[in-house]
Amino acid sequence: MQMQLLKERILKDGLVEDGDILKVDSFLNHQIDIRLLEEIGKEFRHQFEGKEITKILTIEASGIAIACIAARHFNVPVVFAKKSKTLNISGEVYKTSVESFTHKSTNTIIVSKKFLLPEDKILIIDDFLANGKAVIGLSRLVEEAGATLVGAGVVIEKGFQPGGERIRSMGIDLHSLAIIDSMNPENGVIFRKE
Ligand code: G4P
Repeated sequence: MQMQLLKERILKDGLVEDGDILKVDSFLNHQIDIRLLEEIGKEFRHQFEGKEITKILTIEASGIAIACIAARHFNVPVVFAKKSKTLNISGEVYKTSVESFTHKSTNTIIVSKKFLLPEDKILIIDDFLANGKAVIGLSRLVEEAGATLVGAGVVIEKGFQPGGERIRSMGIDLHSLAIIDSMNPENGVIFRKE
């Protein structure tokens, strides 16, 4: 289920840039509206009601604030995967590589083995879902740890890019709070009809 308050905020303050980029840096990933994040956290809790979750996993940088406020509603710790350019990473980490669409680069993402345990039940949280590389990379780390992936929650899914379909077809329980069907600088954002 999409979140009305969030969709209204995207329409009011989101800026569509050329190259399929939605700027939400006045409320989500540069300046951050904590009251909105609080409602986002509550909504994730609602959407994963009844599911046992022991940890929230996200990726630096923009996912961290969202995951932390969501975690208050789940009462669990947050672990964030770090992006590392270092090649000689010690064996004490799970690692995988993730391409970034907006930054046109590839990062190795790492999580210490201490913080992902086989008994963990993981919820992945992130700000944007575009090509799905971040969520799929995080899910590989969960699998490597032998932990259980309960699902993934993203704030904004760009439904015209392939990430959502890829992740759903992998059988991951994905909940997106706003799904954009199309956008351009002239007409703005069109959300998917529920
Ligand atoms: P994917 O994870 O779904 O494959 O996303 P993709 O590679 O396409 O995008 C990578 C980065 O770009 C992510 O941030 C993602 O949050 C961000 N991103 C994708 N589409 C948009 C957009 O329309 N607007 C904005 N503002 N960001 C977008 P990142 O590389 O992990 O960097 P960070 O900003 O979290 O540090």
